Amino acid sequence: MANTFDSLRRQATFSLREHGIKNADIDVRILLGFAAGYSDADLIAQRNAQISPSELEIFNRYLERRMAHEPIAYITQQKEFFSLSFHVNSHVLIPRPETEGLVEHALTLISDTKSPKILDVGTGSGAILISLLHDRKDASGLGVDIYEPALDIAKKNAHSLGVNEQCKFIYSDYLQKVTDCYDLLVSNPPYITDKAMQELDGTVKSYEPHLALRGGADGLSPYRNILRAAPAVLKARGCLVFEIGYDQGQTVSNLVEQAGFKDVKIIQDLAGHDRIISAKKQE
Ligand SMILES: C[S@@+](CC[C@H](N)C(=O)[O-])C[C@H]1O[C@@H](n2cnc3c(N)ncnc32)[C@H](O)[C@@H]1O
Repeated sequence: MANTFDSLRRQATFSLREHGIKNADIDVRILLGFAAGYSDADLIAQRNAQISPSELEIFNRYLERRMAHEPIAYITQQKEFFSLSFHVNSHVLIPRPETEGLVEHALTLISDTKSPKILDVGTGSGAILISLLHDRKDASGLGVDIYEPALDIAKKNAHSLGVNEQCKFIYSDYLQKVTDCYDLLVSNPPYITDKAMQELDGTVKSYEPHLALRGGADGLSPYRNILRAAPAVLKARGCLVFEIGYDQGQTVSNLVEQAGFKDVKIIQDLAGHDRIISAKKQE
């Protein structure tokens, strides 16, 4: 049978569904377009055209990876976040839509600050810091991570998204190597408890870096760690914004208050779950 884009699409969607992949049609469209270098519009226009043998081989390799439930973003090595295209691979967490809320909130906190200096702790792909700097061309920042391969990805993203002049990325165990003072500290640290790690969705658990997920026995040790040193790296009236797990609102806000911060706010995501904590340094 001829391998037209249309027939291939139907066969591949059926195969992915058989392997328990939801939204199989969308995934096939993305992978087929990626293998052939086609946009959605091209795929429709070319639906009766035949895929070349080399493109077919590439597409079949992608399909096998997806059938094994590897996330689409790791296969295409791209993820859209805050309307920007980030390079990702298995060394970094795939940036999540709920983290966009953190970026939006952080932007409101620095809206009146001229040339704000931003610190991103556990930067991963650099998604948070780079999005902030892309929006605020007068801002500068530092991203820290304990995983060198993640820092390489963050640097690559800063270059491709045109903010490399505005930022640096360094290896640091939380705030250990941070010496400067900042207007804003943002962090989406690992916050999954050991127990929840065991019950985690198979795809996340098998493919995403555990260093980006594990928050220790109660999921709070990264927050404690960052909060111990945060007042020393924030300027007077500096702000702090954390992403949190849906059930950590009260516990993390208590920790933030105990660390001497004021104006502690818990903010919900679009699904109505507690997702962000923000606070100000005491003057
Ligand atoms: C949940 S991921 C967040 C990645 C990215 N900021 C985002 O929101 O998509 C947490 C990040 O913290 C980093 N990390 C884990 N332990 C760390 C530590 N002790 N010091 C600094 N970074 C750490 C991981 O390597 C990972 O990149």
